[in-house]
Amino acid sequence: MRKIIIAGNWKMNKTQIEAIEFVNQLKRAIADIQEVDIVVCPPFTALADVKDVLLESNIGLGAQNLFWEDSGAYTGEVSAPMLKSLDVQYVIIGHSERRQYFQETDATVNKRLKSALKHGLIPIVCIGETLAEREAGKTFVVIKTQCLGGLQGISSEEMKKIILAYEPVWAIGTGKTATPQQAQEVHAFIRRQLQEMFDEETAAEVRIQYGGSVKPDNTNDLMSQPDIDGALVGGASLKADSFVDIIKNSCGVKT
Ligand code: PGA
Repeated sequence: MRKIIIAGNWKMNKTQIEAIEFVNQLKRAIADIQEVDIVVCPPFTALADVKDVLLESNIGLGAQNLFWEDSGAYTGEVSAPMLKSLDVQYVIIGHSERRQYFQETDATVNKRLKSALKHGLIPIVCIGETLAEREAGKTFVVIKTQCLGGLQGISSEEMKKIILAYEPVWAIGTGKTATPQQAQEVHAFIRRQLQEMFDEETAAEVRIQYGGSVKPDNTNDLMSQPDIDGALVGGASLKADSFVDIIKNSCGVKT
């Protein structure tokens, strides 16, 4: 059975002090939860301090991006070995905001992905269609293209280590969540796509998170869908109360 994974994507939010305060609160509130994997993805500037607070806790640490070269003259970039040196375990790759505002493409997603895997980071690769693409009936074509491009040259063994996040762009930060049925339909399509690109065993193992206006009150319905294995949470991961409720509402759903 695939273990549910709930990750908080803080985006460009929280100073160092705010981050420390938040994870201390979170750690206390969910100390006894083992049933779901829990991850926080603070901005780069808070990773080192958050790492110290999370030591020996049940909360994993993730970054929001990485550059594909290990080191060199790339002003402003952060590499996989740098993240590894801070005990970062996960890294979000190809978030739609990176695609929209920072010219991220499937080709650059693929380069970042290969660097993450090479250095033993667990990638959370984001895919999803825009509203215009959905309304034009292109959702599945877009998802297929993103899978083929982003996951190019990846082996089945590597694929098993990757987490995918289906995030319909129209649902991100808009309060408009995909219905559980809409999300399930695309998740099932992604799994079939993985079966075509890799094999049945790999497709059955890969965890696919849903992201886009996940809140405590829609978590249970989303997580009960057979092909939804977790959530990538933006806005609702910034407040301890709502993030804790999302985590708690994900417990016991699949059993
Ligand atoms: P949201 O963001 O939960 O605020 O919609 C999700 C995401 O961008 O990962």
